[in-house]
Amino acid sequence: MTNKVFAGRYPETRLRRPRQAPWTRRLVAEHVLTVDDLIWPVFVLEGSGREEPVPSMPGVLRLSCDRLVEAVAEAADLGIPAIAVFPFVRPALKTPDCREALNPDNLVCRAVRAVKAAHPNIGVLADVALDPFNSAGHDGIVRNGRVVNDETVDVLCRQAVVQAEAGCDIVAPSDMMDGRIGAIRGALDQAGLLDVQILSYAAKYASAFYGPFRDAVGSAAALKGDKKTYQMDPANGDEALREVAMDIAEGADMVMVKPGLPYLDVLRRVKDTFAMPTFAYHTSGEYAMLKAAAGQGWIDGEQALLEVLVGFKRAGADGILTYAAPEAARLILRAQGRPAGS
Ligand code: PBG
Repeated sequence: MTNKVFAGRYPETRLRRPRQAPWTRRLVAEHVLTVDDLIWPVFVLEGSGREEPVPSMPGVLRLSCDRLVEAVAEAADLGIPAIAVFPFVRPALKTPDCREALNPDNLVCRAVRAVKAAHPNIGVLADVALDPFNSAGHDGIVRNGRVVNDETVDVLCRQAVVQAEAGCDIVAPSDMMDGRIGAIRGALDQAGLLDVQILSYAAKYASAFYGPFRDAVGSAAALKGDKKTYQMDPANGDEALREVAMDIAEGADMVMVKPGLPYLDVLRRVKDTFAMPTFAYHTSGEYAMLKAAAGQGWIDGEQALLEVLVGFKRAGADGILTYAAPEAARLILRAQGRPAGS
């Protein structure tokens, strides 16, 4: 990035020359998006044989565990390396102490066990955060109107162990409490779960782009107020580097910047500064915008999707969480002229 750029001079240099045909454009392409770059976030709900569309996320379904297992078979066939499981928790199970998060037989754990039993070779990730289980809709325990840090971290540690014991390969703390990465690493190690990886939502901003996700997991109705006392201020970039530095020091194996498109500068700085496995989250709101415009015929949805995803790679992402992972995988495989599974 700091290299001096020698551009040459017109007319000796004509930058259009290498762009004149597909073969030469392919040859000089600096980045390629592959199926290996994709993590597919999925929503799971109770019951069997059930699927429910998420209205604010066209094309996205909440699936019961049996249907999820079928959907994951397709994802595995497309070559998608990993999925991220998010639960739609019944309102009756949401409490102020978030105890359902610690139930080894909760919806997330059952989904993880079912998926790993059917598809042991696909990576499974689960969020560590209390919002789906919290009657207050927050990622942490609320006391006297405040989200309390250290007490929340204790619960998160137990939640992470429960999920890892269910077979989760990667736990992904998305709560933005201070000190949680080190505490969770300690709890996993103490439980003998040395191989379970931690993907830290390290630089996670208080964003309007999570709206459709909160519909999908059913936390929107419960949430009063906003998450600004723990998620980051969109105005801050340097602070993201401090967040990431602390999480690495505490034992994060991989780090994430979230949301994606409005924070490409942060992604680039994080990748350049730390050279860690770095992920971008193409969030629900970004997905919804793209699908809404494409649905109106205002943009070419397929082209826009691939442009966004390669943009994340250009900005330094090693991988991308996107609800459009299966669609993107199909487009990538089609462009390569080979069908799924070959
Ligand atoms: C929960 C969580 C959120 C997302 C991932 N995990 C929402 C939030 O923090 O309110 C957002 C995902 C998306 O919008 O796609 N902690």
